[in-house]
Amino acid sequence: MTARPAILFVCLGNICRSPLAEAAFRLEAERANLDVTVDSAGTGDWHVGEPPDPRAIAVARAHGLDIAGYRGRQVSSADFERFDHVVALDHANLARLRALRPEGARASLSLLLDHVPGRAGEPVADPYYGGPEGFATTWDDVTSGARVLVRRIADGA
Ligand code: 4NP
Repeated sequence: MTARPAILFVCLGNICRSPLAEAAFRLEAERANLDVTVDSAGTGDWHVGEPPDPRAIAVARAHGLDIAGYRGRQVSSADFERFDHVVALDHANLARLRALRPEGARASLSLLLDHVPGRAGEPVADPYYGGPEGFATTWDDVTSGARVLVRRIADGA
């Protein structure tokens, strides 16, 4: 592992769930005084170069975080060398990442809510086609995951 752990959150579009996971993780890492590299990406390429969904920007803002400057990007196999941990937001994206991961790659690959006691196997549901309340649920889910991951990485995992 590098001196500074690096973690990447991956969803489908990189405009809803993974930018919120990135923001929640930054917040929890800052609270824990943990020095980490954090990023997010999508398995799809539809929103490359775009800012997060306005509903994601709004929910982050409600928690004191400005994510309007984030820009969508597509995950690549090189990310499995650049990061220590690649964390998928749901099963479909986990499956895509498994297929993309080079054999013997450095990064671990996991499902976000597998890290949260009592929530193993659960996806972070895609809020894209729903209402704003879906984004509040997304925020709660990614915050639960971020808290556990920050603790684990701070403990040297
Ligand atoms: P995300 O949500 O994967 O959480 O960023 C989505 C964003 C865009 C699309 C689907 C999901 N889309 O189909 O464009």
